[in-house]
Amino acid sequence: MKSIWRETCEIEERKPLDENIETEVAVIGAGMTGILAAYYLQRESKDVVVLEAKEIGSGQSQNTTAKVTSQHGLIYHSLLKQYGKEKAQQYALANETAIREYQNIITDLQIDCDFEYKNSYIYSKSRKELEAEAKAACLLGLPAALTKEELPLPFPVWGAVEFQNQAQFHPLKFLKAISEKVKVYENTEVERVEGNKLITKQGSVQAEKIIFACHFPFVNFPGMYFARIHQERSYVLALKDAAQVNGMYMGAEKGDYSFRNYGEYLLLGGMGHRTGKNAGSYDALRKTAEKWFPNSREICHWSAQDCMTLDKIPYIGQYSKENPDWHVATGFQKWGMTTAMVAALIFRDLICGQEVFYKDVFSPSRFSLGNLPALLAETGHSIKGLGKRVLFIPGKEVEDILPGQAGVVLYKGKKAGVYKDMEGKIYAVDIRCPHLGCQLEWNAAELSWDCPCHGSRFDYRGNLLNNPAQKNI
Ligand code: FES
Repeated sequence: MKSIWRETCEIEERKPLDENIETEVAVIGAGMTGILAAYYLQRESKDVVVLEAKEIGSGQSQNTTAKVTSQHGLIYHSLLKQYGKEKAQQYALANETAIREYQNIITDLQIDCDFEYKNSYIYSKSRKELEAEAKAACLLGLPAALTKEELPLPFPVWGAVEFQNQAQFHPLKFLKAISEKVKVYENTEVERVEGNKLITKQGSVQAEKIIFACHFPFVNFPGMYFARIHQERSYVLALKDAAQVNGMYMGAEKGDYSFRNYGEYLLLGGMGHRTGKNAGSYDALRKTAEKWFPNSREICHWSAQDCMTLDKIPYIGQYSKENPDWHVATGFQKWGMTTAMVAALIFRDLICGQEVFYKDVFSPSRFSLGNLPALLAETGHSIKGLGKRVLFIPGKEVEDILPGQAGVVLYKGKKAGVYKDMEGKIYAVDIRCPHLGCQLEWNAAELSWDCPCHGSRFDYRGNLLNNPAQKNI
């Protein structure tokens, strides 16, 4: 199903690339990051093209809750502890700058995208963590306060950390307006990158600088982003006749819910889980909605797929030491709209040779010993996924699968993922993820095969839904 953003905004189609061209900057990915980066670089008189595998905004930009905020969970207390005041301040300042930049562009170009300032809240039942976060945020100069006032939430909480003057908007209305200023080739998938050349089926682009703004960077070496990112899914319902919450809310604990309004609708988000683990579902979220808002009606639903880093800070900057002309932005956690702007501003300054005073905290080459346990856990997930494909021998055959269900079976003598539709038609796919070979897992809520290692996804027919894989199965 389409998100409320896609239901209410159409973006004009662009032609695919059909020749070999040269440019100063080539951007891979026409989501918010890629389009904003191209827009800013063009304003600095750079020649820029954007290559998009599908359509403008067809990735996470259409599946967000579209909050623009520097409040990213309980991050500031841990940032201060792990990286110190200077870097924590860089993070805070970069994200506060992003909010103002959205407002500047919207005012300059008079974009009608339902942008409105709202306060943002992290709520919790526990007082201690909120107090520590509020203290850290205030120390960094953020517009933060601890609030114990009653919040318009359907359950009791101890209180919340409130950030003032944050924002929410309609991401595709904004993206549509900005993308009209930028040269984009749609349905132009970059198959590989050779030095400074992007190779697609229809043509190539030779560029002085390349920006990977394609959600999960698909070049495995150098960079090895696959070893330090995993992906998570979460679900959103747009509800009519639910509640007006006058703000943007997110819980401090795993499994908490997210709330914001879009006009008369309440956007209720939750049930997040690691991609490939399949713990969440729309049905569970619907049950929660029924309990809290019994008179509400679902207008539409959608799901988000987010890249998560080891230390909860995005990777923005030079792709690797070996490739000084390649830049990357990934690992936005659940804060894609704000971080897209941060990344675009960093790329503008890096590529135009200007000083970027908040780039260090986002540096993709950073390493902290504190991240070692998370790195080992990621490696463990990959070993488990690979081992399962090599060692697990299915005990079921295709006859054992009931209509509407799926499983890993022996099919025509080979291990395969089989989905049987309600009419009994069989859809069999290779269960090996084409990215790095882990075994795919069935996602019953979305009828897809999902990779527990790095989060690639495929529909039941085998078509690629989410990278880093680049091929169908
Ligand atoms: Fe990396 Fe599947 S996404 S192995």
